[in-house]
Amino acid sequence: MIKQSIITIATLGLLSVTASAEFSEAGCIGCHGANFEKAAMGKSKIVKDMTAEEIITSLNGYKDGTYGGPMKAIMKGQANSMSEDDIKAFAEKHGKK
Ligand code: HEC
Repeated sequence: MIKQSIITIATLGLLSVTASAEFSEAGCIGCHGANFEKAAMGKSKIVKDMTAEEIITSLNGYKDGTYGGPMKAIMKGQANSMSEDDIKAFAEKHGKK
């Protein structure tokens, strides 16, 4: 029992490390531009002109289905690959200062 729990905890730890290590902006720039200066597929807002707060709201909203326009299905998959910390770090880096 104890041994099983330790294995479970170890596995979960490994999974979360893998998940956060997987996030990379390289997968975003094809649509949004290297500096997030483009309207992705002609539809999105210009992410670099959004405030950090707006970016956090949008990415969390794509995840839980409370945000988005006609192409939100595309962003749901993208946002799901980001942890809460990834989203915060991303918003602070690219949000309007
Ligand atoms: C296949 C193209 C594509 C990729 C790849 C992509 N996006 Fe998007 N993104 C879009 C589109 C299209 C929208 C507008 C979707 C909608 O209708 O709500 C969008 C919207 C957004 C928004 C909200 C802007 C708004 O219009 O409200 C943010 C923030 C964002 N993307 C960040 C990211 C990040 C971070 C990544 C990488 C993890 C990423 N995107 C990858 C196409 C893409």
